[in-house]
Amino acid sequence: MEKFVIRGGKKLSGRVAVSGAKNSSLALMPATLLTSGISKIYNVPEVNDIYTMIKLMEHLGANIKFENNTVQIDTTNIISQVAPYEHVKKMRASIYVLGPLLSRFGYAKVSMPGGCAWGPRPINLHLEAMKKLGASIDIDEGYVIAKANKLTGAKIHFDIPSVGATGNTLMAAVLAKGTTVISNAAIEPEITLLAEYLQLMGARISGIGTTVIEIEGVDELKPSEIFNIPDRIEAGTLLLAGAITRSNIELSNVIKEHLESVLIKIEESGAKLSYDNGIIKINAENLNIKNIDVTTAVFPGFPTDMQAQWIAYMSLAEGTSKVTDTIYPDRFNHVPELNRLGANIEVINNSAVVKGVKKLKGAKVMSTDLRASASLVLAGLAAENVTEVLRIYHLDRGYQRIEEKLKALGADIERVPTEEY
Ligand code: EPU
Repeated sequence: MEKFVIRGGKKLSGRVAVSGAKNSSLALMPATLLTSGISKIYNVPEVNDIYTMIKLMEHLGANIKFENNTVQIDTTNIISQVAPYEHVKKMRASIYVLGPLLSRFGYAKVSMPGGCAWGPRPINLHLEAMKKLGASIDIDEGYVIAKANKLTGAKIHFDIPSVGATGNTLMAAVLAKGTTVISNAAIEPEITLLAEYLQLMGARISGIGTTVIEIEGVDELKPSEIFNIPDRIEAGTLLLAGAITRSNIELSNVIKEHLESVLIKIEESGAKLSYDNGIIKINAENLNIKNIDVTTAVFPGFPTDMQAQWIAYMSLAEGTSKVTDTIYPDRFNHVPELNRLGANIEVINNSAVVKGVKKLKGAKVMSTDLRASASLVLAGLAAENVTEVLRIYHLDRGYQRIEEKLKALGADIERVPTEEY
């Protein structure tokens, strides 16, 4: 086991580059299962969720090399259409293999993802969409078993614009017979990139980046290459590291349009931002952090994946703010841990009421999930004395060696082996 030991209160400065996005990579990689041959994805982050996806796809028969943030996937010898529990239990995004396997092979057996640390995360929309495309779906011994001789295009309307269900349906529909129309589709940048990748592979898709996507099925696809987008959540997290420590820092490899809702809130809180050609600068020197409410929403709304970090930031604001999560109403495991650092936060239904305090004070805290861990690191950077963040394996699922980036910016943070769990 490892932990972070953070000596807080240091000013940050300098520039670091944001890594490639985890969540787009987790959709792009299974898309390669739709064809036979060698595909390449550039700018993939070295994070544990990617290694989990690699292991799962290797189990299916893919031959994968992952070096220098490039993943090369050879799908010539896919020998299994079964995603076993041992892989899926580690990462819910494993469900992304359902659509491509079903579409290319007419069969997929995928372990049902269970709940996650902050509550239920159903996959009903994925399964309903596969049924609409003509698949039979059975649940047996904890597995989803999907079968279809040939999927057929259909009209699919999502009651909720689910990222994962939109991705899975896109991957299923590209090889279906006829036309599929997805309405109320997710428009997150990761889904837009997936659709663009499918197009490069030869798929016929229109309405990319809009809530109505039309797919005309083709008989086969060919392997292709794509350069992944930067991770907008890592960018947002690092910007808040600058803001919460009242520092001036710069991030390169940022797409501003992917981050607009977060940038607006950061500016409302009093920090100054400037952007030029993929580089974003934050000036938060002597910042008195204003209390700013946020409500999470689907893209282009404020991302739920930035909610925990925003709460950490607001814990040092001048007044009281309300942070509401409409996507995951129970995603507040970080709150009791932030309170251990001296924050004053109360959760009422799906909102956190954050009463700003003058200072946070270091303590031992425990990561419970990926973004919760990021919020504890942010709080630790600003807190007096030493903060120890335990169970950082959660953080390593989605941030590529974040301590190295923070150190490069001048933070006093060490990764240390520990017996503590
Ligand atoms: N939902 C359903 N039924 C479904 C699918 C989703 O009711 O079949 C609900 C969910 O319970 C939730 C909402 O729809 O309330 C949105 O969930 P969505 O399907 O969009 O989320 P996801 O695809 O499971 C992705 C990201 C998450 C991120 C969410 C929301 C990946 C691999 N994961 O999950 O990322 O929080 O979108 O933006 O892309 C993270 O990176 O920390 C993370 C959790």
